Amino acid sequence: MPVPRAAERAAALRKQLDDANYRYHVLDDPQLSDADYDALLRELMDLEAADPKLRTPDSPTVRVGSAIASGFSPYPHGKPMLSLGNAFDAGELRAFDERVRKLAGAANVSYTCELKIDGLAVSLHYENGAFVRGGTRGDGSVGEDVTENLRTIRSIPLKLRGTGVRAIDVRGEVYFRRSDFDALNARREAAGQPLFANPRNTASGALRQLDPRLTAERRLSFFAYAVGDVDAAGFPTTQFGLLEFLHAQGFATNPHVERAATIDDVIAFTERWDGEREKLDYEIDGIVVKVDDLALQEKLGYAGKDPRWAIAYKFRAREATTRLVRIGINVGRTGTLNPYAELEPVQIGGVTVKMATLHNEDHIRRQDIREGDVVVVRRAGDVIPQVVGPVLAERKRKLKEFSMPTHCPVCGFAVDHPEGEAMARCTNATCPAQRRERVRHFASRGAMDIEGVGDVLAFALVDAELVEDVSGLYALTAERLATLPRMGEKTIANVLANIAGSKKRGLARLLFGLGIRMVGAQNAAILAGDYGTIDALMAASEADLITSEGIGAQIAASVVLFFEQAANRALIERLRAAGVDLTAPKRERVSAGPLAGKTFVLTGTLPNLTREEASELIVNAGGKVISAVSKKTNYVVAGEEAGTKLTKAESLGIAVIDEDALRELLSGT
Ligand code: IVH
Repeated sequence: MPVPRAAERAAALRKQLDDANYRYHVLDDPQLSDADYDALLRELMDLEAADPKLRTPDSPTVRVGSAIASGFSPYPHGKPMLSLGNAFDAGELRAFDERVRKLAGAANVSYTCELKIDGLAVSLHYENGAFVRGGTRGDGSVGEDVTENLRTIRSIPLKLRGTGVRAIDVRGEVYFRRSDFDALNARREAAGQPLFANPRNTASGALRQLDPRLTAERRLSFFAYAVGDVDAAGFPTTQFGLLEFLHAQGFATNPHVERAATIDDVIAFTERWDGEREKLDYEIDGIVVKVDDLALQEKLGYAGKDPRWAIAYKFRAREATTRLVRIGINVGRTGTLNPYAELEPVQIGGVTVKMATLHNEDHIRRQDIREGDVVVVRRAGDVIPQVVGPVLAERKRKLKEFSMPTHCPVCGFAVDHPEGEAMARCTNATCPAQRRERVRHFASRGAMDIEGVGDVLAFALVDAELVEDVSGLYALTAERLATLPRMGEKTIANVLANIAGSKKRGLARLLFGLGIRMVGAQNAAILAGDYGTIDALMAASEADLITSEGIGAQIAASVVLFFEQAANRALIERLRAAGVDLTAPKRERVSAGPLAGKTFVLTGTLPNLTREEASELIVNAGGKVISAVSKKTNYVVAGEEAGTKLTKAESLGIAVIDEDALRELLSGT
């Protein structure tokens, strides 16, 4: 066989690479391995480098990125790129449907339901089948010309596959796949670079890189969902048909699209995806509902900036961006220095968030979070809002890197940060911050449940030196309490009665209240049930302790260490002398009870029970509470704002119950 000439070989390579791309990104049916693809691409790049005349504007080699630009030129849109009105619940969707039907004069209207991809909208212009330019949405009438960057996105065809299209503006969303985003962050971590906060902001930053090679490296994706100006033969008549048409032209379109015959079907679609969105490899923030009939869309027209024929149903938000004003440090009950963020107030899913956790020094360093940054804040389920990371593209001026204080901000003692541990700690065991936190925790609802002794009073008692440790609560008198500001007779009587009442809470709550490291409400209930008295527990060795369900070596060591300390033993004696109940109903080791042998996971906020109360009820009925959902879990008890555990349970087919159903199980009915 004769050796093919370079031009023929280049053409063959281009076709092969183009097909491979199409199979991979559009049909989702790859047939060429990444390594083979890269080898062919390399061969084509070499041919083109040897003879630049071989280069064509639609060659797959342009996807690796061309020369650096000095800025972006304006990109005027033909038809404006509009936004959508929002609906936040089923009622608003029904109202939308009613308006549509009234204007259409029809008893029923069918819709196309699409996932609302959380990325950024772009417009792509094709002439005679070839991609010629593309731009961001901008203000809707003029965006930025990011043509060279768009060429690097492999799910954007460089030429159309069908014929008959003279010119078209295709619109859709550029987004980051979670898997590509995680891979990018893994590469950055390995290179010691700060990590990106979330896919959406990173996609936006990547598309606006002046060096297209950087855009190429980030591996963005694209879904087409609409058109602007079109000059084509055989154009479809419905939105559903439009998506099929775009797919046939070589665009990736989202596969999870459905026609809905009624608004009830639309609502069912939104509900299904609200639960399933975590399973996708990309983020969605809602559902876009569009009148299916394109002629009817035209007839309905626009109300101001929003089309009357479409609406965006928004899921409850989980993230928002805002400015981090200051990084503060809280000293916890075990002396940990807990960094937190003071934020410019921001609404997330209907709640105003002003503070968020920054976890620890390592998190701040890995994400490179600095005071003054615009940051991504996430609030999901019942967890404390957290700062995920900065939006680096918004860091317009130099900001100081954060460093953890070397001395406790409360007592001034040195801070210790042992190698390999996440948290830095204040080394002063009598640090007032730690004492305050210990008293507050002891009195909290899940522990000794002393109403009236919350943050304010716990802090005041420690600061006025009326209470040195938790046993001091039981030595309080009306006279001493009266020395504090704002303590009237009635309040004093209530507080004292509540303190006295707490003596009867029993060993499980007491153990939790003592704040032994790694002994949360669940472990406390297990230990109390297995040992029955504090004396039996104090006498137990590590080897004894690990025979208890769920008590591992680390927890056992922590319990032993706690009771070895003379100061802690003295504290127990003071509690005993004060008449605090140091016993628990002893549980049979092979537990009986209505929930014997059943495992539970708790998620979300229950209407009447705290997590600790629910755990205690379950453990006392012979059940077990664990933190992660697995195939072995029998029940997931879900409350308001349940998080990913609920989704996981649903995907594994595990029974999900509410508080009422839990109570039924507990009563054995
Ligand atoms: S249609 C006039 N379909 O959501 C209709 N938009 O708030 C134009 N989006 O700016 C938009 N997925 O960035 C449409 N399947 C989808 C979408 C979608 C995400 C974004 C788009 C738009 C915003 C509307």
